[in-house]
Amino acid sequence: MSTIRVHDKEFKPYLGAEMIADRVRAVAGEINKDYAGKRPLFIAILNGSFMFTADLFKEISIEAEICFIKLASYKGTKSSGHVITAIGLDIDLIGRHVVVLEDIIDTGKTMDAFLPQLVHQQPASLKIAALLHKPSATVYPIHVDYLGFSVPDEFLLGYGLDYDGLGRNIPSIYKLVQGIDKEERTH
Ligand code: IMP
Ligand code: MG
Repeated sequence: MSTIRVHDKEFKPYLGAEMIADRVRAVAGEINKDYAGKRPLFIAILNGSFMFTADLFKEISIEAEICFIKLASYKGTKSSGHVITAIGLDIDLIGRHVVVLEDIIDTGKTMDAFLPQLVHQQPASLKIAALLHKPSATVYPIHVDYLGFSVPDEFLLGYGLDYDGLGRNIPSIYKLVQGIDKEERTH
């Protein structure tokens, strides 16, 4: 398979569409088993998780609800640190079994700032399903309850993930080809 160019960078194939579909199906299977009779509420984090969410939700065979939110992040004051606002979260979470759907957990900063806001609403339970996790990049300890793939700390593209707005429509996942250094180029 060949590399692709997006903006100024080169990416090479990393996780194929069938491999992704297999894992998504397996993750959905675990959720179906764990949440039967509990009518879970999935909260999908836009934009990145839209493709993972659509594929996963098609494999959910138990009664379940879903809502889509966007997280707006800004730097707060020194004491409040990193502040995250959830846009579109209009369902009452009290007593609900909530499963957050994320495309990728990188540093964990986003989830670290966001999850306490959900806990504050007193759900009956709260878990995270993420397609990808970069354990070596994670500085905020986030436990991923349902995981597609554990990946190295490299920049990924496709299947919902973008590089500066582009690449979300690619049906598989690519990874950045690291810049070729001068030494290699001249030989
Ligand atoms: P975190 O707060 O550092 O965990 O970052 C999470 C967010 O950063 C994800 O939801 C993505 O939108 C974005 N992100 C992290 N790693 C990548 C990547 O490799 N490719 C594209 N987006 C990424
Ligand atoms: Mg995201």
